Formats: sequence, structure tokens, C-alpha cells
Amino acid sequence: MKFFIDTANLDQISEAQQLGVLDGVTTNPSLMAKEGITGKDNILKHYMDICEIVDGDVSAEVVATDFDGMVKEGEELAALHSQIVVKVPMIKDGVKALKYFYDKGIKTNCTLVFSPGQALLAAKAGATYVSPFLGRLDDISTDGLNLIAEIRLIYDNYGFETQILAASIRHTMHVIDCAKIGADVMTGPLSSIDGLLKHPLTDIGLEKFLADYKKGNS
Ligand code: G3P
Repeated sequence: MKFFIDTANLDQISEAQQLGVLDGVTTNPSLMAKEGITGKDNILKHYMDICEIVDGDVSAEVVATDFDGMVKEGEELAALHSQIVVKVPMIKDGVKALKYFYDKGIKTNCTLVFSPGQALLAAKAGATYVSPFLGRLDDISTDGLNLIAEIRLIYDNYGFETQILAASIRHTMHVIDCAKIGADVMTGPLSSIDGLLKHPLTDIGLEKFLADYKKGNS
């Protein structure tokens, strides 16, 4: 399972990278705005800064919603750095753009996916990644994890190579559940990765080991 971090915060990206388990980064316009990154030049520079920190794929989202606009913007983003993956929304022109980018050998991440049908279309169009938003489904009392499982079944039935990128992960249990289902990638906040480390028995056990060592060596 690949671990992506879902943020545009450079400190958090660096922290996850230093842990040694980071495979990539996902961003979106809301996450960029949260970091105060505005204006095209600053946004493009920020993507470059992220690419300098991590070794893996960095999703950069287009803001155009028409085919020509998405193609123009996506090509510009892809030309920035070899790690850039063009993030395209699941709308009709987005599906056309996914196919266009596939034919050009440009990697894509199809975002804002909330149904198995949308995921099937994204795979048919040749998306590199599909991003089902599980947390946002949970927010409206719909089982987000079930969507990940349905997409896994459909993709396995036909051998689609599109990778399931479980997005809108909110906490550590989402990560564990997605791993059980077989999501190819998870993207979540740093806290969802850090949470994997924690167990009270680890802390208690370590404290005891160190106390016993101290007793025997003082
Ligand atoms: O990767 C998608 C993600 O940014 C959405 O997460 O928490 O805003 O639903 P959230």
C-alpha cells in the first residue's frame, strides 16, 4: 500500500518524508488556499517545492472545467516536473481529458469520485489513479469504505490497472480498513500516518524495558 500525504503544508510533507514511508503527495485547491498559496506563479512554484521534498507522485489539480482548459492547464502542470500527476475532476469533460492525457503518457488522478460507476468510467478513460472520497461519504451517513470495496471488486474483475487512491481519509482506522480492502494507495493527513505508530502497550513496555535496564546498570 502506498502512503500519500494529503496536504500542501511543506513542514508536514517534510516530516512524513523523513519518516521514510512517504510515497507521494496529493493537493487540491482548498489545501493550497489553506496554506495561503495564491496566484498562478506561486502555485506552480509551490508544486515544484513539494517535488523537491518527496520522491514520488505529486497530484496537482486543474481548475478549468472545460476540456480545452483542462488540457492546457494539465500539460503546463505535467511539464513542471516528472513527478507531477494531473488531477482532473470526475465530470464529462474531465473523462475526455483523462483519455487525452492517457494517450499522451501523462499521469492522472481522477478526483471527486463518489460512486462505482464514476470509478469504472475513470478506469476506462485510462486514469492512473482514481480518488474515491470516503470521509465525505461518511459525512453524509453513507458507507465510504463500501465504495472502496466495490471499486476493488470491479477493477479486479477486469484487471483494470488504475490504482485506487483512497482519499478524504480522516483517521488511522480509515487507513487500516482501506489496507484490509486492498486500496492501492491511501492519502490522508499526517495525523492518520502518525496514528499508526501508537499503542499504549508499546509505551508501557518500553518504559519497563528501560527501567529494568537502568536497575541492572546503575
Ligand atoms: O484528497 C481529497 C481530500 O483532500 C478531501 O479530504 O477531508 O476535505 O474530505 P476532505
